Amino acid sequence: MNAPAIATRGLTKRFPGGQVAVDGVDLAVPGGSVYGFLGPNGSGKTTTIRMLLGLVTPTEGTSTLFGGPARAALTRVGALVEGPAFYPWLTGAANLHRLDAANPVADPSSAKRRVAESLDRVGLTAAAGKRYKAYSLGMRQRLAIAGTLLSRRDLLILDEPTNGLDPQGTREVRGLIKDVAAGGTTVFVSSHLLAEVEQMCTHIGVMRTGRLVAQGSLGELRSGSSPRVEVETSDVTAAASALTGLGLENVASAPGRVGAEIGTLAPEHVSDLLFKAGVSIRGFQVIRPSLEDVFVGLTGEGFDVDS
Ligand SMILES: Nc1ncnc2c1ncn2[C@@H]1O[C@H](COP(=O)(O)OP(=O)(O)OP(=O)(O)O)[C@@H](O)[C@H]1O
Ligand SMILES: [Mg+2]
Repeated sequence: MNAPAIATRGLTKRFPGGQVAVDGVDLAVPGGSVYGFLGPNGSGKTTTIRMLLGLVTPTEGTSTLFGGPARAALTRVGALVEGPAFYPWLTGAANLHRLDAANPVADPSSAKRRVAESLDRVGLTAAAGKRYKAYSLGMRQRLAIAGTLLSRRDLLILDEPTNGLDPQGTREVRGLIKDVAAGGTTVFVSSHLLAEVEQMCTHIGVMRTGRLVAQGSLGELRSGSSPRVEVETSDVTAAASALTGLGLENVASAPGRVGAEIGTLAPEHVSDLLFKAGVSIRGFQVIRPSLEDVFVGLTGEGFDVDS
Protein backbone atom coordinates (compact mmCIF):
# COMPACT_ATOMS: atom_id res chain seq x y z
CA MET A 1 0.00 0.00 0.00
CA ASN A 2 1.15 3.56 -0.68
CA ALA A 3 2.34 5.57 2.29
CA PRO A 4 -0.22 8.14 3.42
CA ALA A 5 0.41 11.69 2.24
CA ILE A 6 0.62 12.83 5.86
CA ALA A 7 0.93 10.70 8.98
CA THR A 8 1.68 11.87 12.51
CA ARG A 9 2.08 10.01 15.76
CA GLY A 10 1.54 11.72 19.08
CA LEU A 11 2.49 15.06 17.57
CA THR A 12 2.77 17.55 20.43
CA LYS A 13 3.90 21.17 20.80
CA ARG A 14 4.31 22.86 24.14
CA PHE A 15 5.46 26.47 23.80
CA PRO A 16 7.85 27.70 26.49
CA GLY A 17 5.81 28.92 29.44
CA GLY A 18 2.55 28.35 27.56
CA GLN A 19 -0.08 25.69 27.49
CA VAL A 20 0.05 22.74 25.12
CA ALA A 21 -0.85 24.08 21.66
CA VAL A 22 -0.95 20.65 20.00
CA ASP A 23 -1.55 17.60 22.14
CA GLY A 24 -0.83 14.06 20.93
CA VAL A 25 -2.23 14.41 17.42
CA ASP A 26 -2.39 11.31 15.17
CA LEU A 27 -3.19 12.50 11.66
CA ALA A 28 -3.83 10.07 8.81
CA VAL A 29 -4.23 11.84 5.48
CA PRO A 30 -4.75 9.36 2.64
CA GLY A 31 -3.14 10.04 -0.74
CA GLY A 32 -5.63 11.58 -3.16
CA SER A 33 -7.88 12.98 -0.44
CA VAL A 34 -8.98 16.55 0.15
CA TYR A 35 -8.57 16.67 3.91
CA GLY A 36 -10.28 19.46 5.82
CA PHE A 37 -8.43 20.33 9.03
CA LEU A 38 -11.13 22.00 11.01
CA GLY A 39 -11.03 23.80 14.31
CA PRO A 40 -11.87 27.09 16.00
CA ASN A 41 -9.34 29.89 16.51
CA GLY A 42 -6.44 28.84 18.67
CA SER A 43 -7.14 25.11 18.43
CA GLY A 44 -3.65 24.32 17.07
CA LYS A 45 -4.13 24.11 13.29
CA THR A 46 -1.31 26.45 12.26
CA THR A 47 1.08 25.00 14.83
CA THR A 48 0.37 21.50 13.50
CA ILE A 49 0.95 22.64 9.92
CA ARG A 50 4.23 24.32 10.88
CA MET A 51 5.39 21.07 12.46
CA LEU A 52 4.37 19.10 9.34
CA LEU A 53 6.53 21.39 7.22
CA GLY A 54 9.48 21.31 9.61
CA LEU A 55 9.10 25.02 10.47
CA VAL A 56 8.49 24.29 14.16
CA THR A 57 10.14 21.48 16.12
CA PRO A 58 7.67 19.21 17.91
CA THR A 59 8.09 18.78 21.65
CA GLU A 60 7.12 15.15 21.18
CA GLY A 61 5.89 12.85 18.46
CA THR A 62 6.71 12.28 14.80
CA SER A 63 5.36 13.22 11.43
CA THR A 64 5.99 11.97 7.90
CA LEU A 65 5.10 13.19 4.42
CA PHE A 66 4.76 10.30 1.93
CA GLY A 67 6.34 8.00 4.47
CA GLY A 68 9.52 10.03 4.94
CA PRO A 69 10.75 13.15 6.70
CA ALA A 70 9.38 16.52 5.50
CA ARG A 71 12.77 17.61 4.10
CA ALA A 72 12.82 14.63 1.72
CA ALA A 73 9.42 15.58 0.29
CA LEU A 74 9.76 19.35 0.04
CA THR A 75 9.85 19.59 -3.75
CA ARG A 76 6.65 17.51 -3.88
CA VAL A 77 4.84 19.76 -1.42
CA GLY A 78 3.38 23.22 -1.92
CA ALA A 79 2.46 25.13 1.21
CA LEU A 80 0.64 28.25 2.21
CA VAL A 81 1.03 29.13 5.88
CA GLU A 82 -0.06 32.28 7.71
CA GLY A 83 1.83 35.36 6.66
CA PRO A 84 3.48 34.50 3.31
CA ALA A 85 6.74 36.30 2.78
CA PHE A 86 6.45 38.47 -0.32
CA TYR A 87 8.47 41.56 -1.16
CA PRO A 88 6.19 44.60 -0.76
CA TRP A 89 7.95 46.71 -3.39
CA LEU A 90 7.86 44.04 -6.12
CA THR A 91 4.84 43.40 -8.32
CA GLY A 92 2.77 40.24 -7.91
CA ALA A 93 4.31 38.78 -11.05
CA ALA A 94 7.86 39.64 -9.98
CA ASN A 95 7.26 38.00 -6.61
CA LEU A 96 6.13 34.81 -8.32
CA HIS A 97 9.21 34.89 -10.57
CA ARG A 98 11.43 35.03 -7.47
CA LEU A 99 9.57 32.14 -5.91
CA ASP A 100 9.77 30.12 -9.11
CA ALA A 101 13.49 30.78 -9.46
CA ALA A 102 14.00 29.35 -5.96
CA ASN A 103 12.61 25.99 -7.06
CA PRO A 104 15.60 23.84 -8.06
CA VAL A 105 13.52 21.47 -10.18
CA ALA A 106 11.70 24.14 -12.24
CA ASP A 107 12.91 24.76 -15.81
CA PRO A 108 13.86 28.47 -16.06
CA SER A 109 13.01 28.66 -19.77
CA SER A 110 9.32 28.10 -19.03
CA ALA A 111 9.13 30.36 -15.95
CA LYS A 112 7.18 33.05 -17.75
CA ARG A 113 4.45 30.64 -18.77
CA ARG A 114 4.21 29.14 -15.25
CA VAL A 115 3.89 32.57 -13.64
CA ALA A 116 1.27 33.72 -16.18
CA GLU A 117 -0.73 30.51 -15.73
CA SER A 118 -0.66 30.70 -11.93
CA LEU A 119 -1.75 34.34 -11.95
CA ASP A 120 -4.53 33.46 -14.35
CA ARG A 121 -5.76 30.55 -12.20
CA VAL A 122 -6.19 32.80 -9.17
CA GLY A 123 -7.70 35.69 -11.14
CA LEU A 124 -4.78 38.07 -10.70
CA THR A 125 -3.78 38.60 -14.33
CA ALA A 126 -5.09 42.16 -14.35
CA ALA A 127 -3.22 42.97 -11.12
CA ALA A 128 0.01 41.18 -12.11
CA GLY A 129 1.89 44.46 -12.59
CA LYS A 130 0.75 46.05 -9.34
CA ARG A 131 3.11 46.19 -6.38
CA TYR A 132 2.43 43.70 -3.59
CA LYS A 133 2.16 46.46 -0.98
CA ALA A 134 -0.82 47.86 -2.91
CA TYR A 135 -2.60 44.48 -2.90
CA SER A 136 -5.72 44.00 -0.78
CA LEU A 137 -5.78 41.14 1.75
CA GLY A 138 -7.77 39.02 -0.70
CA MET A 139 -5.27 39.71 -3.50
CA ARG A 140 -2.38 38.80 -1.20
CA GLN A 141 -4.08 35.55 -0.33
CA ARG A 142 -4.62 34.81 -4.03
CA LEU A 143 -0.96 35.52 -4.77
CA ALA A 144 0.07 33.15 -2.02
CA ILE A 145 -2.12 30.46 -3.56
CA ALA A 146 -0.66 31.24 -7.00
CA GLY A 147 2.76 30.64 -5.45
CA THR A 148 1.76 27.09 -4.50
CA LEU A 149 0.49 26.44 -8.04
CA LEU A 150 3.74 27.29 -9.86
CA SER A 151 4.65 23.66 -10.26
CA ARG A 152 2.76 20.41 -10.08
CA ARG A 153 2.67 19.12 -6.51
CA ASP A 154 1.76 15.81 -4.98
CA LEU A 155 0.58 17.54 -1.81
CA LEU A 156 -0.70 21.04 -1.12
CA ILE A 157 -0.87 22.21 2.49
CA LEU A 158 -3.03 25.32 2.75
CA ASP A 159 -3.57 27.15 6.04
CA GLU A 160 -6.91 28.97 5.84
CA PRO A 161 -6.61 29.81 2.13
CA THR A 162 -9.95 31.63 2.05
CA ASN A 163 -9.01 33.96 4.90
CA GLY A 164 -9.71 37.54 3.83
CA LEU A 165 -11.53 36.59 0.64
CA ASP A 166 -15.03 37.78 -0.21
CA PRO A 167 -17.76 35.18 -0.91
CA GLN A 168 -16.96 35.20 -4.63
CA GLY A 169 -13.24 34.75 -3.94
CA THR A 170 -14.02 31.99 -1.46
CA ARG A 171 -16.04 30.13 -4.11
CA GLU A 172 -13.20 30.53 -6.59
CA VAL A 173 -10.64 29.12 -4.16
CA ARG A 174 -12.92 26.17 -3.42
CA GLY A 175 -13.19 25.54 -7.15
CA LEU A 176 -9.43 25.84 -7.50
CA ILE A 177 -8.87 23.30 -4.73
CA LYS A 178 -11.27 20.87 -6.40
CA ASP A 179 -9.44 21.32 -9.74
CA VAL A 180 -6.06 20.72 -8.15
CA ALA A 181 -7.39 17.63 -6.37
CA ALA A 182 -8.95 16.33 -9.60
CA GLY A 183 -5.43 16.44 -11.08
CA GLY A 184 -4.29 13.93 -8.45
CA THR A 185 -2.80 16.28 -5.86
CA THR A 186 -3.61 15.54 -2.22
CA VAL A 187 -4.85 18.68 -0.48
CA PHE A 188 -4.66 19.34 3.26
CA VAL A 189 -6.60 22.50 3.97
CA SER A 190 -7.30 24.12 7.33
CA SER A 191 -10.41 26.11 8.03
CA HIS A 192 -12.61 27.18 10.89
CA LEU A 193 -15.67 27.07 8.64
CA LEU A 194 -17.47 23.76 8.82
CA ALA A 195 -19.77 24.47 5.86
CA GLU A 196 -16.79 25.31 3.67
CA VAL A 197 -14.96 22.12 4.53
CA GLU A 198 -18.10 20.06 4.00
CA GLN A 199 -18.39 21.42 0.45
CA MET A 200 -14.93 20.57 -0.77
CA CYS A 201 -13.39 17.82 1.36
CA THR A 202 -13.46 14.03 1.22
CA HIS A 203 -11.95 13.67 4.71
CA ILE A 204 -12.09 15.75 7.86
CA GLY A 205 -10.09 16.05 11.05
CA VAL A 206 -11.47 18.16 13.87
CA MET A 207 -9.22 19.98 16.31
CA ARG A 208 -10.38 21.24 19.66
CA THR A 209 -7.97 22.81 22.14
CA GLY A 210 -4.96 21.05 20.64
CA ARG A 211 -6.52 17.62 20.35
CA LEU A 212 -7.79 15.81 17.29
CA VAL A 213 -11.30 14.90 18.46
CA ALA A 214 -12.55 13.29 15.24
CA GLN A 215 -11.09 12.09 11.96
CA GLY A 216 -12.38 10.15 8.99
CA SER A 217 -14.06 10.31 5.61
CA LEU A 218 -17.22 12.41 5.36
CA GLY A 219 -19.22 9.19 5.12
CA GLU A 220 -17.58 7.70 8.21
CA LEU A 221 -18.21 10.84 10.23
CA ARG A 222 -21.81 11.14 9.06
CA SER A 223 -22.55 7.49 9.82
CA GLY A 224 -21.72 8.29 13.45
CA SER A 225 -25.29 9.52 13.85
CA SER A 226 -28.43 8.17 12.22
CA PRO A 227 -31.16 9.94 10.25
CA ARG A 228 -34.42 10.84 11.95
CA VAL A 229 -37.98 10.79 10.75
CA GLU A 230 -40.10 13.81 11.74
CA VAL A 231 -43.88 13.55 11.59
CA GLU A 232 -46.17 16.56 11.86
CA THR A 233 -49.50 15.44 13.23
CA SER A 234 -52.39 16.39 15.49
CA ASP A 235 -52.34 12.82 16.90
CA VAL A 236 -49.05 13.04 18.76
CA THR A 237 -49.83 10.19 21.16
CA ALA A 238 -51.00 7.81 18.44
CA ALA A 239 -48.03 8.68 16.22
CA ALA A 240 -45.56 8.18 19.06
CA SER A 241 -46.96 4.78 19.94
CA ALA A 242 -46.98 3.75 16.27
CA LEU A 243 -43.30 4.73 15.91
CA THR A 244 -42.45 2.93 19.15
CA GLY A 245 -44.41 -0.09 17.91
CA LEU A 246 -42.25 -0.11 14.77
CA GLY A 247 -39.21 -0.46 16.97
CA LEU A 248 -37.79 3.01 16.22
CA GLU A 249 -35.40 4.39 18.83
CA ASN A 250 -35.28 7.73 20.62
CA VAL A 251 -38.90 8.64 19.96
CA ALA A 252 -39.38 12.28 20.97
CA SER A 253 -42.70 14.14 21.08
CA ALA A 254 -43.34 17.87 20.93
CA PRO A 255 -46.60 19.74 20.40
CA GLY A 256 -47.79 18.86 16.88
CA ARG A 257 -44.80 16.68 16.02
CA VAL A 258 -43.08 13.39 16.77
CA GLY A 259 -39.59 12.34 15.73
CA ALA A 260 -37.54 9.16 15.98
CA GLU A 261 -34.38 7.59 14.61
CA ILE A 262 -35.44 5.79 11.47
CA GLY A 263 -32.56 3.30 11.50
CA THR A 264 -32.55 1.11 8.40
CA LEU A 265 -36.31 1.22 7.74
CA ALA A 266 -37.53 2.66 4.44
CA PRO A 267 -39.35 6.00 4.95
CA GLU A 268 -42.32 4.81 2.85
CA HIS A 269 -42.68 1.79 5.14
CA VAL A 270 -42.92 4.10 8.15
CA SER A 271 -45.43 6.50 6.53
CA ASP A 272 -47.49 3.53 5.34
CA LEU A 273 -47.75 2.07 8.84
CA LEU A 274 -48.60 5.46 10.36
CA PHE A 275 -51.38 5.76 7.81
CA LYS A 276 -52.64 2.24 8.57
CA ALA A 277 -52.59 3.06 12.29
CA GLY A 278 -55.04 5.89 11.52
CA VAL A 279 -52.55 8.69 12.32
CA SER A 280 -53.36 11.86 10.39
CA ILE A 281 -50.13 13.09 8.83
CA ARG A 282 -49.65 16.77 8.00
CA GLY A 283 -45.99 16.57 7.27
CA PHE A 284 -43.41 13.81 6.97
CA GLN A 285 -39.71 14.13 6.40
CA VAL A 286 -36.46 12.30 6.92
CA ILE A 287 -33.68 14.52 8.22
CA ARG A 288 -30.11 13.43 7.67
CA PRO A 289 -27.85 14.88 10.32
CA SER A 290 -25.61 17.63 9.04
CA LEU A 291 -21.93 17.37 9.85
CA GLU A 292 -22.51 20.15 12.30
CA ASP A 293 -24.96 17.93 14.19
CA VAL A 294 -22.34 15.19 14.17
CA PHE A 295 -19.70 17.50 15.60
CA VAL A 296 -21.99 18.84 18.26
CA GLY A 297 -22.56 15.21 19.20
CA LEU A 298 -18.82 14.49 19.22
CA THR A 299 -17.61 17.52 21.06
CA GLY A 300 -20.66 18.34 23.13
CA GLU A 301 -20.49 21.93 21.96
CA GLY A 302 -21.71 24.12 19.16
CA PHE A 303 -19.26 24.88 16.41
CA ASP A 304 -18.11 28.37 15.77
CA VAL A 305 -19.28 28.48 12.16
CA ASP A 306 -19.29 32.22 11.62
CA SER A 307 -16.38 33.68 13.51
N1 LIG B 1 5.02 31.02 18.94
C1 LIG B 1 4.11 30.79 19.89
N2 LIG B 1 4.42 30.98 21.19
C2 LIG B 1 3.51 30.73 22.18
N3 LIG B 1 2.25 30.28 21.95
C3 LIG B 1 1.89 30.09 20.67
C4 LIG B 1 2.78 30.33 19.57
N4 LIG B 1 2.12 30.03 18.42
C5 LIG B 1 0.88 29.64 18.78
N5 LIG B 1 0.73 29.67 20.13
C6 LIG B 1 -0.48 29.27 20.88
O1 LIG B 1 -0.83 27.96 20.50
C7 LIG B 1 -2.25 27.82 20.41
C8 LIG B 1 -2.61 27.31 19.03
O2 LIG B 1 -2.34 28.32 18.07
P1 LIG B 1 -2.47 28.08 16.50
O3 LIG B 1 -2.01 29.31 15.83
O4 LIG B 1 -1.82 26.80 16.14
O5 LIG B 1 -4.06 27.91 16.36
P2 LIG B 1 -4.96 27.94 15.05
O6 LIG B 1 -5.87 26.77 15.18
O7 LIG B 1 -4.14 28.05 13.83
O8 LIG B 1 -5.83 29.27 15.25
P3 LIG B 1 -6.43 30.31 14.16
O9 LIG B 1 -7.72 29.70 13.66
O10 LIG B 1 -6.69 31.53 14.97
O11 LIG B 1 -5.41 30.51 13.09
C9 LIG B 1 -2.83 29.18 20.76
O12 LIG B 1 -3.21 29.16 22.10
C10 LIG B 1 -1.68 30.12 20.52
O13 LIG B 1 -1.78 31.25 21.35
MG1 LIG C 1 -4.04 29.44 12.32
